[in-house]
Amino acid sequence: MKPQELFKVEGYGVIVTGGASGLGLGYAEALAENGAQVTILDVDSSRVDQETQRLGNLGYAVRGEVVDVRDHAAIDRAFDAALAAHGRLDVVFANAGIDPGPGFVGSWVGAERPRNPAGALESYTDERWNRVIDINLNGIFATLRAGARLMRPQRSGRMIVTTSVAAYQCEPAIGAAYMTAKAGAAHLMRSVALELAAYQITVNAIAPGFFATNIGGGHAKQPQVQEAMSKAIPMHRVGFPDDMKGLALFLASPASSYITGQQISIDGGWTLGVAD
Ligand SMILES: NC(=O)c1ccc[n+]([C@@H]2O[C@H](COP(=O)([O-])OP(=O)(O)OC[C@H]3O[C@@H](n4cnc5c(N)ncnc54)[C@H](O)[C@@H]3O)[C@@H](O)[C@H]2O)c1
Repeated sequence: MKPQELFKVEGYGVIVTGGASGLGLGYAEALAENGAQVTILDVDSSRVDQETQRLGNLGYAVRGEVVDVRDHAAIDRAFDAALAAHGRLDVVFANAGIDPGPGFVGSWVGAERPRNPAGALESYTDERWNRVIDINLNGIFATLRAGARLMRPQRSGRMIVTTSVAAYQCEPAIGAAYMTAKAGAAHLMRSVALELAAYQITVNAIAPGFFATNIGGGHAKQPQVQEAMSKAIPMHRVGFPDDMKGLALFLASPASSYITGQQISIDGGWTLGVAD
């Protein structure tokens, strides 16, 4: 197969939750730039307007809808609307997520990693725990369920979950609920992949390392945070949404047709250890 066939997503119907910012926007761009029709679902109405307009002005087939992934009935309605608008559903990115911080240590890197009482287990409120689980785990469940409802009868499709390296490696600067939700989402992905394999539907996960996005109030975009993180990451730089595009296209396209149930890290070597 030639590259243009292997990675062909032209005309595909694609849904991206949390697609108005950061990694989700990177996925949406990667698919739209290659001729797919993309629906962005996101809770942030101004970003949905801004990004769908911007991408539309570039000539891409992108529509948007304001949906909170905590509203499972709204997800179902939005999936039906996307299918009606695009005439097909080929790819779902279950990506929306939050990181409300803090963890039980106060800084991401450095020799000095002081304990942070605000992130300690005893300080962890039910409200915070439930909010993270609701968005980062229950939202993924409802998104995969909506995808399965439409993809199973057609016996084809791709679903891609954004987890995190925190799904398998504890990072004390992140809250416990975040790590728990991501580990749960990774195993949910495997379970759904097994269930849907016979229907030729693949389900995989992307586990990002440290990316400069708006998550956590945009701390990852601060130059001093990036500089400190760059010392800890073997490739000596943080990730950017553009770094996601190749993997997103690969997992969405015929190139990955026999891969399912896998979680692929994309982290500049962060989880390998410290090199220099
Ligand atoms: N940035 C990183 O370093 C990093 C690392 C590992 C995993 N991730 C994961 O990547 C995913 C995307 O995060 P990002 O870094 O691009 O952050 P981001 O804040 O730039 O983008 C997240 C998007 O999700 C949307 N969103 C949040 N809550 C929502 C809800 N309830 N319903 C619908 N949309 C909602 C936001 O409005 C935003 O547009 C998340 O699941 C996050 O946990 C990010």
